[in-house]
Amino acid sequence: MLAQSFWALLVLLSFPLIRSQTTQLSLSFDTPVTLIGNNFSTSASNPVLFSLPSSSQITISLALCASASSNPPRVFVSSSGSVILGPSNADGQNLSQVTLNGLGLGNFTLQFPAAGGGGGGGILAVYGGTQSDSLEIGVSQGETPLHAPLADLPFFGDSTADQAILFSPAFLPPEPAPEPTFPNYTLPQANTALPVPPSPSSSPNLTLFFAPLDTGLTSLPQTACAIRARGVPTESGNNSQSPRVLAEQPWLRDAEGWRREWLVGPLQPLTNYSVYVIQDGTRLSRPLFFTTKSTNFSCPLVHALPYCPTTAYSVPLPQPHDGALLYDASNLPDNLTSPLLSYLTNFTTSLLTNACGRDSYSPLRTCADCQAAYRHWLCAVSLPRCAEFPQAAPTTAVPQQDGQATLGAPQIPPPALAPQPSGMPWRNAALGNASEDYAVLLPCIETCNAADRACPVSLGFRCPRAETTGPQSYGVGFIDSANGDVMGGGATHSAQDQWGNVFCNGS
Ligand SMILES: *[C@@H]1O[C@H](CO)[C@@H](O)[C@H](O)[C@H]1NC(C)=O
Ligand SMILES: *[C@@H]1O[C@H](CO)[C@@H](O)[C@H](O)[C@H]1NC(C)=O
Ligand SMILES: *[C@@H]1O[C@H](CO)[C@@H](O)[C@H](O)[C@H]1NC(C)=O
Ligand SMILES: *[C@@H]1O[C@H](CO)[C@@H](O)[C@H](O)[C@H]1NC(C)=O
Ligand SMILES: *[C@@H]1O[C@H](CO)[C@@H](O)[C@H](O)[C@H]1NC(C)=O
Ligand SMILES: *[C@@H]1O[C@H](CO)[C@@H](O)[C@H](O)[C@H]1NC(C)=O
Ligand SMILES: *[C@@H]1O[C@H](CO)[C@@H](O)[C@H](O)[C@H]1NC(C)=O
Ligand SMILES: *[C@@H]1O[C@H](CO)[C@@H](O)[C@H](O)[C@H]1NC(C)=O
Ligand SMILES: *[C@@H]1O[C@H](CO)[C@@H](O)[C@H](O)[C@H]1NC(C)=O
Ligand SMILES: *[C@@H]1O[C@H](CO)[C@@H](O)[C@H](O)[C@H]1NC(C)=O
Ligand SMILES: *[C@@H]1O[C@H](CO)[C@@H](O)[C@H](O)[C@H]1NC(C)=O
Repeated sequence: MLAQSFWALLVLLSFPLIRSQTTQLSLSFDTPVTLIGNNFSTSASNPVLFSLPSSSQITISLALCASASSNPPRVFVSSSGSVILGPSNADGQNLSQVTLNGLGLGNFTLQFPAAGGGGGGGILAVYGGTQSDSLEIGVSQGETPLHAPLADLPFFGDSTADQAILFSPAFLPPEPAPEPTFPNYTLPQANTALPVPPSPSSSPNLTLFFAPLDTGLTSLPQTACAIRARGVPTESGNNSQSPRVLAEQPWLRDAEGWRREWLVGPLQPLTNYSVYVIQDGTRLSRPLFFTTKSTNFSCPLVHALPYCPTTAYSVPLPQPHDGALLYDASNLPDNLTSPLLSYLTNFTTSLLTNACGRDSYSPLRTCADCQAAYRHWLCAVSLPRCAEFPQAAPTTAVPQQDGQATLGAPQIPPPALAPQPSGMPWRNAALGNASEDYAVLLPCIETCNAADRACPVSLGFRCPRAETTGPQSYGVGFIDSANGDVMGGGATHSAQDQWGNVFCNGS
């Protein structure tokens, strides 16, 4: 008690000193400031002071950019600039410490009830910190801290031995398509046009960081500035040896919205990579993991098909010609795309003979929903997805059994892999006979059931029963339960997970 009041007195006495010795810096909205090494004050009575910008409500946001030293920086804020600053009186007088969580992030919202223009006058003080510390301080209006973690994970498309397709979290919902109405009920063409990408001004700045697991990208602190300091920036570059972004574009892969898509390489085979996305320099996603295939893996990647927007995976095709890195709509063989588009066109024609837009065949589903679900299914079955049997496991197919929903949570079920031996005809006749031994990751049966549910019975679209013939051609029991009754009641609830496991094709 005595010591405390002594300290308070000391702070009181030294206050004029603080004002005269410390250059008071200003923090502005949305422009973070980083304190490093010599920026930190060596004297406990002489904190680094910042004046806060004025607004009725501001949110302070902190991020550690390096692991904390034995004398880590401590940050205090006050809504009143006249308050005497010092760690000892943090409990009183509107002075609050902004604490950091386990990841190295902290935030604090200050209200200025009587702000009125010139109001504000808040102060931020940083005590402690050593040569090895690094702290980023940001201020924003409103309640969202500048370092707020991204809510959604990046998305893994697929990998080969030395390339991968990765997506950012969705950042902008798609323009709602105008609902077609009777009597002019029209549906998108089979070969739809590319949707117009969002303007750069409505897109956040998304940066990809990835590295093999053993490089320690996943160690603490988990903040954007720490990842940036540790990770190799993966912007497009010229060094042919270092892994980097080979190509990127905005892509609308599904109804969740626009994402940034990255093709990365060259990667090391059979390696577990950790992936982060940083939005606008300060907001970090959670980590996503993926593994590359072995050097034996021969299937190239296919992506950016306007008529199959979710396709971004390896397909059993020869390597693309003319130095192309992968397949897209411009070089995918005609004998593959023509039947696909013809099926879709013919299906759409039959669909439109139904009472689209009139006596709805379902109160919930429209012909447009049916066409979209059929398109998704058709792409998944027409473009088989290559995979590899796990290295250590037996090389026989491990079909998933019924009742996988009862598996305990920690158990990871084997993926829905099927062998496609050399010389055997593919299910899609357009692919001819397999030119070598392949392993195929079967489509999730939910892609079929979704089309079955969305489409009029009269079209005769049917899916195999999950309990009987389903597992021969589909991944069963991963998303929905194996008996198909429980939506989302499957063993994994999803086609793939954050840790790099891909169970079936068709998310
Ligand atoms: C921190 O120190 C560096 C040089 O070491 C300097 O350039 C920078 O302006 C300082 N930052 C602050 C906020 O004082
Ligand atoms: C603390 O802030 C409130 C308004 O936020 C103000 O009314 C009060 O006077 C302040 N107290 C001190 C000790 O500055
Ligand atoms: C802000 O900090 C609080 C704890 O003080 C924490 O619960 C919350 O998740 C943080 N918000 C964000 C967006 O980081
Ligand atoms: C029918 O709708 C399409 C697009 O919704 C439009 O382009 C076309 O002009 C319309 N046709 C008639 C006859 O209204
Ligand atoms: C890559 O190298 C080529 C020629 O070597 C050069 O023209 C180009 O500007 C370089 N690109 C980058 C991003 O450095
Ligand atoms: C996007 O962010 C990166 C790193 O955070 C930065 O280097 C780059 O200049 C930013 N680009 C734009 C257009 O703001
Ligand atoms: C690659 O294929 C060969 C021959 O099929 C096999 O012996 C070898 O184990 C495979 N290597 C890997 C890493 O799968
Ligand atoms: C689509 O319909 C046309 C005309 O009826 C037919 O010639 C064609 O073979 C059909 N396409 C497929 C893939 O069945
Ligand atoms: C498809 O076309 C490619 C060349 O574009 C050819 O190599 C391949 O054999 C064809 N496949 C079939 C099944 O006709
Ligand atoms: C493809 O396989 C089928 C069945 O094994 C066989 O009858 C046919 O001759 C094969 N075609 C080619 C071009 O090898
Ligand atoms: C990749 O590494 C992560 C983190 O250690 C781990 O949880 C995950 O299971 C690994 N993924 C694979 C496919 O081995």
